[in-house]
Amino acid sequence: MGSCVRRSILEGVGSYLPARILSNADLSRIVDTSDEWIVERTGIRERRIAAEGETTGHLAIAAARNALADARIDAGEIDLIILATSTPDNTFPATATQVQAALGITRGAAFDLQAVCSGFVYALTVADSLLQGGQGTTALVIGSETFSRILDWNDRTTCVLFGDGAGAVVMRAGEGKGTIADRGILASRIRSDGRYADKLYVDGGPSSTKTVGHLRMEGREVFKHAVINIAGVMEETILAAGLKPSDIDWFVPHQANKRILEGTAKRLGVPESRVVITLDKHGNTSAASIPLALDTAVKDGRIKRGDLVLMEAMGGGFTWGAALLRW
Ligand code: ACO
Repeated sequence: MGSCVRRSILEGVGSYLPARILSNADLSRIVDTSDEWIVERTGIRERRIAAEGETTGHLAIAAARNALADARIDAGEIDLIILATSTPDNTFPATATQVQAALGITRGAAFDLQAVCSGFVYALTVADSLLQGGQGTTALVIGSETFSRILDWNDRTTCVLFGDGAGAVVMRAGEGKGTIADRGILASRIRSDGRYADKLYVDGGPSSTKTVGHLRMEGREVFKHAVINIAGVMEETILAAGLKPSDIDWFVPHQANKRILEGTAKRLGVPESRVVITLDKHGNTSAASIPLALDTAVKDGRIKRGDLVLMEAMGGGFTWGAALLRW
């Protein structure tokens, strides 16, 4: 028997994608690539591109509104906003504060969190800790990105992989029994190793070049580390919760590359039918990709209340992490 514990329960999810679709065929007119190459190597068929003047903040606000509506929670009840992004509207203030203002919230705190593609798992972990520590009761956790703004559109090895989008969840502290039957976040683990910074980075920044810069990546190197790191942290997280991989109902991974997802699912023994894949529709949207996939699988009825959901991500830094929760 467990004792009474405070759990961070996910009460709602929402997402938002910009209207403009950029297909693989469209890309083949910009760089030397083909639909066949992109689909075979990544599984991506199309991505969304934010309109002129449409920013990470705008996408975040739209996703947050959808998540609040889904949770049936009023914006005025939000104590905490954590926005995971590597493409903020401005160097400062944090885009999260602009989301806070747009939603009419004047209480609590809002801040950005930067862990690239692992941002959503990091933000979920930080929000869970803050709620458990009593820093408020209700949190908005958002992943929002406009990677189209930091891509080198002449580099076919990177520009075909990423897209723009946002996703959000509403988390509320509630009482659990301290057992694996509880709803909410059961365990999470976050990791980083800065020795690999040069494998995936942006070659600009306010303090180094005074420019925004462009994304640079050694794809094959990232791929090599991804499956090993992700599998390790997932196993650790599952074990920390006192569960087994076969207990997982749904695997909702960061949507980077279909081959990475299949590789990690296989390593963990999760059948393909239990893996939520949405990257064909939006490519790699970095911190936004997990909540985008979660929203899809909740709204189409695959993920039901009480299901055990495992999330994982890896990104620049390297950073990586996993979170296990009961929906
Ligand atoms: N179209 C056509 N040809 C291309 C393209 C393209 N868009 N990009 C590269 N090529 C060519 C290369 O030039 C190379 O040609 P060569 O053999 O004549 O030199 C050939 O295709 C093979 O290139 P590789 O880089 O070896 O291809 P690979 O099979 O490794 O696939 C990819 C590349 C898709 C980037 C893969 O390495 C990958 O997915 N890596 C992980 C990267 C990732 O997902 N990063 C996201 C952030 S981290 C994360 O989220 C996990």
